[in-house]
Amino acid sequence: MSLLLTGIGTLVTNDPEQGCGPLGLRRGAALVLDGERVAWVGEARTAPACDERVDLAGRTVLPGFVDSHAHLVFAGDRRAEFTARMAGRRYQAGGIAATVAATRAASEQVLRERARRLRAEMLRGGTTTVEVKSGYGLTVADEARSLTVAAEVGDEVTFLGAHVVPPEYAADRAGYLALVTGSMLDACAPLAGWVDVFCDRGAFDAAEAEAVLTAGAARGLGLRVHANQLGPGPGVQLAVRLGAASADHCTHLSDADVDALAGSGTVATLLPSAEFCTRSPYPDARRLLAAGCRLALATDCNPGTSYTTSMAFCVALAVREMGLSADEAVRAATLGGAWALRRADVGRLSPGARADLQVLDAPDHVHLAYRPGVDLVHAVWRAGRLAVGPRDG
Ligand code: NIG
Ligand code: FE
Repeated sequence: MSLLLTGIGTLVTNDPEQGCGPLGLRRGAALVLDGERVAWVGEARTAPACDERVDLAGRTVLPGFVDSHAHLVFAGDRRAEFTARMAGRRYQAGGIAATVAATRAASEQVLRERARRLRAEMLRGGTTTVEVKSGYGLTVADEARSLTVAAEVGDEVTFLGAHVVPPEYAADRAGYLALVTGSMLDACAPLAGWVDVFCDRGAFDAAEAEAVLTAGAARGLGLRVHANQLGPGPGVQLAVRLGAASADHCTHLSDADVDALAGSGTVATLLPSAEFCTRSPYPDARRLLAAGCRLALATDCNPGTSYTTSMAFCVALAVREMGLSADEAVRAATLGGAWALRRADVGRLSPGARADLQVLDAPDHVHLAYRPGVDLVHAVWRAGRLAVGPRDG
């Protein structure tokens, strides 16, 4: 089945060969979807014949958001902690234990329903690819079932057994490390494509994080690191040295950290909603771009530091709070996320790409930042299928 989308006011392709600038922008364009893929991009009057045709009446089309960092499998919430933080208390990694207790106490079916709801919310917000982590189970069985649920709702699945040391191992960190790198990884590696570690104050140090990452790599998992969120630290350099796909947060960086990222294949994934929700300083995105680093933007959706599924909100924050242009922010939220997941098939709209796209009720993509908090999504196609909308009017 082929579908011609015409009347596209602004088309963001993220492919410089398809249009102007890094976003590969086109005005008045048309797009042909064939099955799951984009088959053709060009002027409507030269479009090939198609089975169906939809006129988008001047709306904007851009690739679906690629949210490369989300923790969707958990129970309970931490609104009391949020309220205390807004009254002046500082965020600490220890709050994770509250979600671990709630997650362990929940049935797999409850975890599944909750994760599905968040995933549906993401799709309505224009997100067509999402990475989902475990990390609130922290026993072999609880991590394994979290990953089972993660694989049902996510496109990419990440084992985060090394989120924090759970309370029952408080007096035996080495014992928990042995568990994570041993029988927990044995059970979890077949269920995941990636391993992640929270390398920060109150979580894991450089040697511990390296042990987790190398054990994961030995089981064939790709590497990701929660790095330099709460303070300066070794996470970013470790991520680069081990060839991680992404160093996430990057809030507190030294010049050496920026240099290491710039010369590497490791993407700097910025999570500005975590800074917003913990009332913390934002990462210096301009310094990273000036050094030549590749940037991704993601939600970090989790109950502790960033309980949002909205990539549009992250784009708005990146523009208002981190000084990115709307072009840079939209690219980081789409193509950047694809880089961070080492996916060549998403994050762009050029022939051969997966037909993942969002249609905005707006004249162009700048409105994502210009109209913060407003739901602009008119329709979403995912893998060539209409997944959301079209909205009336
Ligand atoms: O990415 N930094 C570690 N993990 C989460 C926070 C998890 C939590 O507080 O529940 C994050 O911000
Ligand atoms: Fe996170």
